[in-house]
Amino acid sequence: MISFPGREEVIRRVYDHGQERIFDFWNEISDSEKLRLLDDVESIDFTLLERLFRQAEQGSPPPMGFEPAPYIPLAGEEEGGAEFREARERGRELISEGAVAAFVVAGGQGSRLGFDGPKGLFSAGPVSGKSLFQIHAEQIHKSSEKFGVRIPWLIMTSHSNHDQTVRFLEDNSRFGLDAADVYVFPQGMIPSLDLEGKLILETPSSIFKNPDGHGGSLGALAGSGTLHAMRERGIRIISYFQVDNPLVSIIDPLFIGFHSLRKADISSKGLMKAYPEERIGVFVRFDNGAIGVVEYSDLPEELQKQRDERGRLRYRMGSIAIHLFGVDYLESITGGTDLSLPFHAARKKIGSHTANGIREIDGYKFEKFVFDALPLTERNIVLETKREEEFAPIKNPSGVDSVESAQGLMDARARRWLRERGIDVPPSTAVVEISPLLALEPGDIPASLRVPDRKRVNLEPDKD
Ligand code: UTP
Repeated sequence: MISFPGREEVIRRVYDHGQERIFDFWNEISDSEKLRLLDDVESIDFTLLERLFRQAEQGSPPPMGFEPAPYIPLAGEEEGGAEFREARERGRELISEGAVAAFVVAGGQGSRLGFDGPKGLFSAGPVSGKSLFQIHAEQIHKSSEKFGVRIPWLIMTSHSNHDQTVRFLEDNSRFGLDAADVYVFPQGMIPSLDLEGKLILETPSSIFKNPDGHGGSLGALAGSGTLHAMRERGIRIISYFQVDNPLVSIIDPLFIGFHSLRKADISSKGLMKAYPEERIGVFVRFDNGAIGVVEYSDLPEELQKQRDERGRLRYRMGSIAIHLFGVDYLESITGGTDLSLPFHAARKKIGSHTANGIREIDGYKFEKFVFDALPLTERNIVLETKREEEFAPIKNPSGVDSVESAQGLMDARARRWLRERGIDVPPSTAVVEISPLLALEPGDIPASLRVPDRKRVNLEPDKD
């Protein structure tokens, strides 16, 4: 057994749990590196990891019984008119009162995209080349201006991309947002395990950990003190979204209004699944009455394909990870510090330090999912939204859910908005982009606007 003066207890714990392989390079590392490794180990909950490893080997238990979740459908021409108007009005009031904050989760590793750096730095604007962070910041800027308030922007990072994210935002002066309105905090990390349940070394003196999933965001919000800071600012609703969707409507009066009118603790946006096999989770109502999400991989094929009497998919409301959380509610479930959502295991390739350098091995990463918070309350609603208006995830370098597909959707939405305002796009124009600083909805576009006759057009507000 290795030894280090004053650290006998933690070393004993490592051996008791059969994890002594993390000391394989003990004789090659300096005293300060030894201390770093022991500090790293100090915070590890071995009992939790052993339980998660057993779960990973057995596979996740099937979800409890469920049926399709009820949802508020898109307002038709006649139906829903009055309630939709009331909701929009209520939402506007709440935003103007300064009751709403924007919260982006940006701690993911973006491994599918293969972009070297935080995903928020990825260039998404089809003409401007603006980064995802800039597009979001400009939306928040414009909403603040429209409603005459300072809307706080909360950004969750991970330990591996935190510093780069902070530097990028500072280098760009937070794209016009005030430093006092931008809160950046990292999420928690959890060790990954190899297929024998052993810890993995990332370097000779550090353990491989991964961010604890987007579900870690609610605990991180509370644990970092940001939830408390929001309470102090008078924030009552937190608008949650993912960094990789440049079409998301971050501060949406209709959604916020429904959340308030229906006295919800959590609200979610959903959209019609495009086809049965589409890889998005669906909203369900579990047998205990709570609304939640069942992942596409957990929805049996026959249920994926089931149709109702009108020929529509029975499980048709797909989740796009857009939620509103009540601050009161978050405080009640986190107790001001943390929230214990379950971990899910995923088998992934992990770089493990060996005597011959880094070797890719198979292992388990553990993550929490934000939608596991949904069934914790019965005051939980789903509002349908239009895919083409709000959903353009950038997950892959090409093909489905890629930057090309997202830019195509941004161009199509810009053209639709201009058409709605009766503004022509010259036939020679191949791509149009509308800056969030110009418009967050068609009505914001000045009727007098003319689209210049160019191949690629980025419409920004006049600088005067
Ligand atoms: P994804 O599930 O798409 O994961 O995240 P990812 O890490 O970005 O990409 P892949 O799977 O490695 O290719 C959805 C959203 O949740 C955030 C991401 O930043 C993205 O906004 N997220 C994910 C976190 O903030 N933390 C996490 O631990 C995981």
